[in-house]
Amino acid sequence: MDYSPELGGIIYQVASMARRAGGISFAGGYPDPALFDTEGLAAAFNQVFRDSFRVALQYGEREGHPPLRARLAAFSSTPSRTVAAEEVIIANGGQQGIETAVRVLTRRGDTVFMDSPVFPTALQAFHLAGLNGISVAKDRDGLIPESLEALLKVHAPKLIYVVPSYSNPDGSVLALERRRRLLELAVHYRFHVLEDDPYSRLWFDTPAPPSLLALSGEVPGARDWLIHVSSLSKLVAPGLRVGWMIPPAHLRQEFVWTKLATDIHSALPTQHAVENYWAAGRMEAHLPKIRATYAGRARAMHAALAEHLADRLDFAAPQGGMFMWCRVRAGGDARDLMDAARREGVYFVPGVAFYPRDADRATFRLSFATTPEDGIAEGIRRLSRVLAG
Ligand SMILES: Cc1ncc(COP(=O)(O)O)c(C=O)c1O
Repeated sequence: MDYSPELGGIIYQVASMARRAGGISFAGGYPDPALFDTEGLAAAFNQVFRDSFRVALQYGEREGHPPLRARLAAFSSTPSRTVAAEEVIIANGGQQGIETAVRVLTRRGDTVFMDSPVFPTALQAFHLAGLNGISVAKDRDGLIPESLEALLKVHAPKLIYVVPSYSNPDGSVLALERRRRLLELAVHYRFHVLEDDPYSRLWFDTPAPPSLLALSGEVPGARDWLIHVSSLSKLVAPGLRVGWMIPPAHLRQEFVWTKLATDIHSALPTQHAVENYWAAGRMEAHLPKIRATYAGRARAMHAALAEHLADRLDFAAPQGGMFMWCRVRAGGDARDLMDAARREGVYFVPGVAFYPRDADRATFRLSFATTPEDGIAEGIRRLSRVLAG
């Protein structure tokens, strides 16, 4: 892979630069802190301090707090795939799910497929594990099954990593038929699919297609090849570090042992608080507000880009999630644009951070999640001046 931690680290660098300088940030995939339900979460933590603090301060079950596992199982269940509480392993964010899957399923030198552009912290996990990363071609409907099949004739990947709904960084959505085909190919060619699903609940006008987890109940054999990972980072708050993984039954024990070697179990006071928060009905009450706010910001960003930059950039209207993916038609390296924009107080992440190899350097990612609509309009105006200049 051409990937290096320095390249992937651009995201965190630019995001913290934007925070320090107080500019207009389209950089990090950070939820807007103004949208954190601090009142609901404070009540939930106070309830822990009052009712279960001694229990929560002790070691707990390795797989996580049982009531929260049951709740996450119900949240992940669909008519075609009912998830039992025992299937859910609570993790320290979705990232730990990715890392655990890599440890369980791969050895140094193995091949991992991914649709790219791709989430760089997943790339970081593949890089540290010494994996050979290969991109599968994609379009707005996600990875292209014919390209995947052509690669499968040449390589034998242990794993394919996909973010099927509102992908980070490009906002793409894997089409329903392609989801089914991916699972069929996994069964046929015997490779695991790592579904990373932190964004599917952040849809705008219509819900995302069923997850691979849901479809694994319909495609014969698919349950044995699918690892589903998800997270509350974008739905409640990332600082809580609550994610979860649902591996196939025959790998569950190995997932638990592998996580055990890292951290014994995820922090219990937080899990108790999240369970209280959910039990109080705050999760379901709050989610529509986040969706509506991001939908408004996405529309504002798309409208501003269409007004000021339609002739210079390629971009598509997001259907959910937190990101827009842009490409400068004239080419070049978006890192130069990033430097120029920074001088105007606008921050974003250049595309080079999001590829295992052969990066399209003319691309960049804009996050619409963190900045209110008036700031978005102003930021895009400044960006258009930079691009014109
Ligand atoms: C696609 C994707 N996967 C995983 C993560 C990590 O999330 P968490 O905070 O749950 O570890 C992110 C965070 O930005 C993400 O965009």
